Amino acid sequence: MSTEDFVVTPWHVEGEIDYDKLIKQFGTERISDEILARIKKNTGEDHFMLRRGVFFSHRELNRVLEDYEKGKKFFLYTGRGPSGHTHIGHLVPWVFAKWLQDKFDVNMYFQLTDDEKFYAKAELTLEDTRKFAYENALDFIALGFKPKNTKIIINTRNIQTLYPIAAQVAKKINFSNTKGVFGFTNETNIGMIFYTSLQSAPCFIEDKPVLIPLGVDQDPHFRITRDVAPKIGKPKPALIHNIMIPALEGPGGKMSASSENGTVYTTDSPSTVKKKINKYAFSGGQPDVEQHRKLGGNPDVDVSYQYLRIFFEPDDKKLKSIHDDYKSGKMLTGELKGILIEKINSFLEVHQEKRETAKDQIKQFLFENK
Ligand code: TRP
Repeated sequence: MSTEDFVVTPWHVEGEIDYDKLIKQFGTERISDEILARIKKNTGEDHFMLRRGVFFSHRELNRVLEDYEKGKKFFLYTGRGPSGHTHIGHLVPWVFAKWLQDKFDVNMYFQLTDDEKFYAKAELTLEDTRKFAYENALDFIALGFKPKNTKIIINTRNIQTLYPIAAQVAKKINFSNTKGVFGFTNETNIGMIFYTSLQSAPCFIEDKPVLIPLGVDQDPHFRITRDVAPKIGKPKPALIHNIMIPALEGPGGKMSASSENGTVYTTDSPSTVKKKINKYAFSGGQPDVEQHRKLGGNPDVDVSYQYLRIFFEPDDKKLKSIHDDYKSGKMLTGELKGILIEKINSFLEVHQEKRETAKDQIKQFLFENK
C-alpha cells in the first residue's frame, strides 16, 4: 500500500486513485469490450455507466453471464453503511443495480450495516446508525425497486437470519487473514474484526450465485468471501466495481457522508444545492474569464463535469457538446455549474417526492426473519 500515493480501503479512501494500478493491486479484471458486448447481447441495451467506465472492473462477471445464458439465474446484492444521510454519490451503484435487476429479472438484497458504522465511528451510537439505516432505505426504495423481488436487510434487525451464515464464514477466516487485508491492530475493536462475516452473509442467502455491484473500496471484504465460499460449499460471489465518486472539493477521495460541504445530500433543497455547487465544486476552469476563453477548461478534473458524466447526463451527444465547449473555453465554469445545478435539482425534485411515498412502502421491503 505504501508504495502508492493513494489508499483505498472500505473505511478510508485517500489520494488520486490510479485505477489501472488499483486493478493490479486488488487483482481484479478490467471490464473488456468483449464483456460489454456480452452484457449488451443479454440486456438489449448498453448502460452509460458501463460505456463511460463508471463501472470499470469486475470479478467473474463472465461466469455469471455464461450461466445466465444457459438459463441459470443469479441474484443481486449490494449495501450501504448508514453513517449519515444519503448523498448523490451513493446512488450510482443503486441506480445501476436497478437497471441490472430490470434487465435480468432477478431478486435483489440491500444490506444496511448499522452495526458496522457503529463499530467504525466513535461518534455514532447504535441508535444513530439505526436511524440512518431507515433514512437510507427510503432513498433506495425511491429509485423504483419493487417489494416483490427486493428485500432490505438491516443487520441488527435481521441478525437471526444472518448469524448462522456469518458463523459458517467466520469459522473460515482467521485473525491474520483480516489483519492482512484491512490492517487491523491490537487496538481494533473485535466488532470490526468479525464484521466481514456479516457483510458476506447475504452472498449466501439464496441457493444461487450472487452478483454484487459495489464501490471498489468494498472489494477487500469480498476478496475474503470469495476465498471462504468453496470452503463452505458455496459459489464465489461475482463483483462489478464502480469508481469512487469524487467529493465536491475535488478529485482524490470519495464523497464522504460526514463532510457536510463536500457533499450533496438527497434531502438538500434547491437553494442548498445551488450554494454548494457554486461554492465548493472543484473547477477545472482558468482563474479569469479572459484566460478561460483563451486556454479553455479541463473537464477531466472538473467535478461538475464529472458528475454529469458519471450520473446526471446520460445523453452522450449532450455530454460531448458540454465537454467540447468547456474545453475550448466557449463555456465558462459558471455556466457548467448552472447546467449541473439544474440537473441535480430536477432529479431531486422527483426523488424527494418518491422518498416521501417510500415511507408508506418501507414495511413491504424489510426482510422478515424466518
Ligand atoms: N460496508 C458497506 C459500506 O460501508 C455497506 C455494504 C454492506 C455493502 N454490504 C455491501 C456495500 C455489499 C456494497 C456491497 O457502505
